[in-house]
Parts: sequence; C-alpha cells; structure tokens
Amino acid sequence: MQESNMAGWQRKQTSVEKGIVIPDEWPGYPLELFSLPEHYSEDLDCVYIPHGVIMDRIERIARNILEDLGDHDIVVLCVLKAGYQFCADLVDSIKVLCRSSSKTLPMRVDFIRLKSYLNDQSTEVLHIEGAENLSVLSGKNVLIVEAIVDTGKTMKTLLNHVEAFKPKMIKVAGLLVKRVPSGTGYLPDYVGFDISNRFVVGYALDYNEYFRDLNHICVISDRGKLKYKI
Ligand code: HPA
Ligand code: MG
Repeated sequence: MQESNMAGWQRKQTSVEKGIVIPDEWPGYPLELFSLPEHYSEDLDCVYIPHGVIMDRIERIARNILEDLGDHDIVVLCVLKAGYQFCADLVDSIKVLCRSSSKTLPMRVDFIRLKSYLNDQSTEVLHIEGAENLSVLSGKNVLIVEAIVDTGKTMKTLLNHVEAFKPKMIKVAGLLVKRVPSGTGYLPDYVGFDISNRFVVGYALDYNEYFRDLNHICVISDRGKLKYKI
C-alpha cells in the first residue's frame, strides 16, 4: 500500500532502488585511516561506510524525494532512536535543495519510537511509542524515515499501524537495508545502502545505546559486543 496510485509520484523501478550495494566481500577501511573516538578504539573492526559517503548519498536521496514529492505537503515520521541522525540530515538536505530550486516541500516532522533489539539480537516484541497521536497522519502524505531495515518485519508492522490512520500516501526512506537470510524482501522506496549481514554501529545506530556518538558507520568487534553486553 506504500505505492501511490497518483501519477508522477512513482519512481521508476531500477537497480538504483537498492541504493549503493556493498558486497559481502567488502572488508571496510582500516580504523587507523580515520578519525574515531578514542573510547571505541578496541570496539570496532573497520569503518564500513565513512561519514562523508553517507552525507553524499543522503544529498542524492533528498534530490530524488524533492523530484517525486516537491510542491506537496509532507509529514516526515522519524523512527527513533536510530533514525534521528538520518532524519535530521535528510531534512537539512531537502531544505538546502529547496533554496536552490524552484520546488518547495513543506515538511512537518513527527517522531515515533520503536524498539526490537537487545544486544545484537532482534526480540519478538516490537514496542511502538508515540503512536497515540498518529491521527494527524490522516489524509496526509507521509514519509517514514528509518535508519535500518533488515528482516523487514518491523517496517511491515509499522506500515500496517500507520495505514490504519488512512494517510493519503506513504513513502519510506531507509538509510541501510541489510541482506539477511530471513528477510521478507521488503524494500523501502528510497534506499541509501544495501549492506551485508554484519552488525553495524555509528551514525546513531547503537549496540545497547552505545556508539551513537560515532560519525562513521562501523562494524562492531567481538570485544565491543562483549564490553557493552547487558
Ligand atoms: N546495527 C544497529 N541496529 C540494528 C542493526 C545493526 O546492524 N540491525 C538492526 N538493528
Ligand atoms: Mg537499536
């Protein structure tokens, strides 16, 4: 139901839809080539996606969103907690593009909180908080902004939930889509990177609330998992 029936809003389905595909063999960059917080020096295996590359990709996603949705009002629904950085940078990027183009995109920004991970394992129970005021989405064009999609189950649950409030249109932007064996095949409308099945942290993605204060997206080390396990 996330596909819009309205002419002009549907992007062509091409390989671009998967975003930048990072192959399973990609070893990442050595940590010593980058500037990283000292307190995480032993807790990471590699820099998987440098911050600058994330920002460049977001700029392009912002352009695609503006091309598709420009001149319509949208409600941006930021999925907390991990989505806060992606959402802030995406909204910023759209604002900058609007200033230099003839299009406008009035945006309201709202927040919803989901939790389904403990340590590096997905828990069965999905908690949705902040869902009580979603009635504001009724009849609106909604852009859900999520940091990472793996099995797709969380996003499907959230989509069902949001659809119940009868928005006019729902689009989803996912910064990362992880290739997991148990995946449902769900793909967001806008994808930043298609990544291998490794636990990544940084750029607001956490492991038990740690690593959100890391700019790059990195692969956590076994030592890091042990150190911050609860
Ligand atoms: N990192 C952080 N949070 C996550 C991940 C990940 O790799 N996968 C699902 N939630
Ligand atoms: Mg998390």
